[in-house]
Amino acid sequence: MKILFINACARKNSRTLELCKYFLENYEKNHRHIEIEQVSLFGGAELKPMTEETLKEREELIAKRDWEDSKMMYALQFHEAEKIVIGAPYWDCSFPAMLKVYIENIMVSKLNFLYQEDRYVGLCRGKKMLYISTAGGDAERNMGFDYVRKVLKMLGNYQCKYIHADNLDVQGVDIEEMMQKAKIKLDEAIKRW
Ligand SMILES: Cc1cc2nc3c(=O)[nH]c(=O)nc-3n(C[C@H](O)[C@H](O)[C@H](O)COP(=O)(O)O)c2cc1C
Repeated sequence: MKILFINACARKNSRTLELCKYFLENYEKNHRHIEIEQVSLFGGAELKPMTEETLKEREELIAKRDWEDSKMMYALQFHEAEKIVIGAPYWDCSFPAMLKVYIENIMVSKLNFLYQEDRYVGLCRGKKMLYISTAGGDAERNMGFDYVRKVLKMLGNYQCKYIHADNLDVQGVDIEEMMQKAKIKLDEAIKRW
């Protein structure tokens, strides 16, 4: 089974990445035949925001249904992934801009969704998405997660889950304790997700 890990963690010592690694390493130990593919949005992945020119190029590829072109690589990879893990720190009430750039690049009509009779029909194969985050303050309501969940509704039939460690930049907070609490929630997901 294929898990696509979209790594939107910018910092080397990212606490969000620590939670993602904890989840993925233990998930792999607890389940058979797991294959994890990673897209590192801050290193490795060559993604650019869409422009007039790249939108036109993409329209041409869509018209030919040419999904093998390298410009379709991320969209096709997303299309095929059965489970999606997104690791994204809470930035400015949502997530780092690179994640939005990634989303722009996977929103390919006729491959990942159709727009029919005033509504979206998702064509992606995935069934589950887990969104892992950490925040300096309170991120119980995370517009970043809400936005990704809405986008995934257009792309398919995903069951979406959000696990987070909050208040990590609040003075006096026991960071280890907050991280541990999030890991306990991840333990549950490791068994059942
Ligand atoms: C650019 C930037 C924007 C941030 N915006 C917020 C915010 O809006 N609300 C919040 O509670 N914390 C905010 N933070 C704090 C981070 O959410 C927090 O430090 C988080 O744990 C960082 O994740 P990381 O360790 O994975 O990099 C921001 C941090 C950065 C660097």
